[in-house]
Amino acid sequence: MAGRIPQHFIDELLNRVDIVDVIDSRVPLRKAGRDYQARCPFHEEKSASFTVSQNKQFYHCFGCGANGSAIGFLMDYEHMDFIEAVKELARRSGMELPTTEHSNTTHNPGPDLHPIMQTATHFYQQQLKQHPEANKAIDYLKQRGLTGEVAARFGIGFAPPGWDNLGKALGNNKQGQQQLVTTGMSVAKDDGGQYDRFRNRIMFPIKDHRGRVIAFGGRVINKEDNPKYLNSPESPLFHKGKQLYGLYETKQALRQIDRLLVVEGYMDVVALAQHGIYYAVATLGTAVTHDHLQPLFRTSSEVVFCFDGDRAGRDAAWKALDIMLPELKDGRTARFMFLADGEDPDSLIRQIGQQAFEKKIVSAISLSEFLLQNLSQRVDMSAIDGRARLIDLARPKLAKISHQVFKHMIISELANRTGMSGAELTSLLGEKSITHTSSKAIARSPGNSRKLSPVRSIISLLLEQPQLAQQEPDPRRFLELKEPGINLLVELLELIQQQPHIHCGAILEHWRDRPEGKHLNKLALSTHTIPSEGYKHEFQDALRHLDKQRIEHICNQLLHKGENSPLSSQDKIRLTELLNRKQLLSRPLTRNNDNEN
Ligand code: UTP
Ligand code: MN
Repeated sequence: MAGRIPQHFIDELLNRVDIVDVIDSRVPLRKAGRDYQARCPFHEEKSASFTVSQNKQFYHCFGCGANGSAIGFLMDYEHMDFIEAVKELARRSGMELPTTEHSNTTHNPGPDLHPIMQTATHFYQQQLKQHPEANKAIDYLKQRGLTGEVAARFGIGFAPPGWDNLGKALGNNKQGQQQLVTTGMSVAKDDGGQYDRFRNRIMFPIKDHRGRVIAFGGRVINKEDNPKYLNSPESPLFHKGKQLYGLYETKQALRQIDRLLVVEGYMDVVALAQHGIYYAVATLGTAVTHDHLQPLFRTSSEVVFCFDGDRAGRDAAWKALDIMLPELKDGRTARFMFLADGEDPDSLIRQIGQQAFEKKIVSAISLSEFLLQNLSQRVDMSAIDGRARLIDLARPKLAKISHQVFKHMIISELANRTGMSGAELTSLLGEKSITHTSSKAIARSPGNSRKLSPVRSIISLLLEQPQLAQQEPDPRRFLELKEPGINLLVELLELIQQQPHIHCGAILEHWRDRPEGKHLNKLALSTHTIPSEGYKHEFQDALRHLDKQRIEHICNQLLHKGENSPLSSQDKIRLTELLNRKQLLSRPLTRNNDNEN
C-alpha cells in the first residue's frame, strides 16, 4: 500500500483535482483535439509528444514513455515522494490529510527529531565562526580549497574538542538529552550519563530530500585521529543505505538536472561544487544499493557513477552494474567513469579544473560498454571457445534485463564482438528475436488496441471509459477462466462498480505498488481508433468472446468427464444448453471478426 494514506482519500483527492491544471501550471499545455499537449518536460524534444488526457486524468509521452496520474506527475516533475505529492495536491484542493494515518517517512510516531538536528547544525556552524579553536578548522577547510560560500551552502560546521559541548548547549533537559541519544548525536554511558559523539571534527550535515538534517559525517582535523570520518549511526531519521549526500543541495542549486555524478566521499561532493560541478552526490562510503537508484533516477535520467580505477573500484562498479540491470528503463542512462589509481574526484578537479573534468564525465563509458568490456576481458576472444564462453558469461546478465530494447542492443553488440549474426546469437541465447518483441514494445502507435487479447482490450476500454463497467453485472463468473489478466480484470470491474465516477488516473493509483500496475499503465497508453460511441459495442464484443471461451472451457470439462463415465442426464442437459449458447455467442463475433487472436 502506498504510504499510509488511505486509498479512499486518494480516490477523493484525484476526483477533485484536474491533472490539466496541475500540469499546466508547471508546463504550459495547449489544446489538441480532445487532449492537451506540450513538449515533454522529461526528455529533450523538438515536437510535442507529451499528452495530457483530461478524460483519463492521465499523462503520457510517446517519446520517452513517461506516464502517470497527477500524483505521478508531481513525483517525477517536482522530485517529490508519494506522500509529498499527495500533500501538495491536498493543499491545492483544500483537503485535510487524515492525521492518524500518516506519519513522516519514519514509521515511528515518537517526538519529531528534526528540530534538534537543525539546532545541532546551527550550533556547529556557529562554533566554526566563534570557538577559540575554530581557526584550526577554518585553516583546514581553506587548505582544501573551500571558500566560505561553499562551506555555507553545505552547512559545514565545527564540533569543538571536549566531551559535552553539544550536550550542554542542546540537552539542558531530560527530553533534549534523550533526543540527542536517539539521533546518535550523544553516546549514552553505562552510568546513565552521556557524551558528545562528535569531537574536534569538521561537521558535514546530511540532509534528506526536503532539506532536513538527518545525520552528520564528521572528519578529523588531526591526521592521527581515528576514524577519518565518523558518521551518525542508524537512527529513526537516518538509514544509511538509502541516503545520498548532496542530493538536496544539487536540487537547490540547479533548476534542471540533466545529469548526476555519483561519487564516494563528502569532500568529493563539496570540492566538485567548489569548482562549479553542482550535480555530484555521494553514497556515504557504502556501495551503491538498490535503494539509491530510485532517488537518483527520479532526479535525473542520466546517472554517471564514478569509481576508482583500481581493482576494488572495478569490483564496486561491477556490483553496481548488477544492481542496475533490472532497473534499466526507457530513457534511463547509466555510465561509468573510472579514475586513475590514487586519484579521487576532489584531487582530480583541483588538478584539472571544471572543463577538463566535465569532459571526462561526458566520455564516461556506457553501462553496456562496461558490461561487454568486462566480460570480454575474462575470455580469450581470439579463440572460438573463448567467444562461446563469452556468450555463457553474458547469459545471466542478460537474464536480469527486463527492458527488451536495451537487451537486444546488447545482444547485437555481443554479436558484433563474437562475429555471429544477431539472429544466430539470439537463438543461441534462447531469446525472442528483436523484430518480434521490439515492434510491440516500442510502437505505441494509435490503433493498436485492436490487436489486444479480449482481456486486455476490455481493460484498456475500461481505462478510457470506466462507466462501461456498468454493462457487466456479474464479472466474477470470468474467474473460472485461466486467461492471463483475468483476476485483474475482475478486480477492476468490481472497483469501478463500487465507484462509478472513478477515472483512469485514480484507478492506476490503486495499483501503484502492485506488479500488475505496470500492465495497467501500459494498457492506459493504448489509444482506440474507433470513435468513442463504438466503445460500448467493442466492449460487449470482447465480453462475449470471453463468455464463449468460458463456455468452451466448461463444455470441455463436461466432455472430458463423459469420456471416463457416462454423463448424468443433468450434465447432458447442461451441455446442450451450453453448446447452444456458445453458438449464439459466436455469431456477432464471426460477423465482426474481431479479437480472434
Ligand atoms: P575516503 O577514505 O576515500 O575519504 O572515504 P575521502 O572522501 O577521500 O576523504 P578526504 O578527501 O580524505 O577528506 C570515502 C568516504 O568513505 C566514508 C566517508 O563517507 C568518506 O567520504 N568513510 C571513509 C567513512 O565513513 N569512514 C572512514 O573512516 C573513512
Ligand atoms: Mn579525498
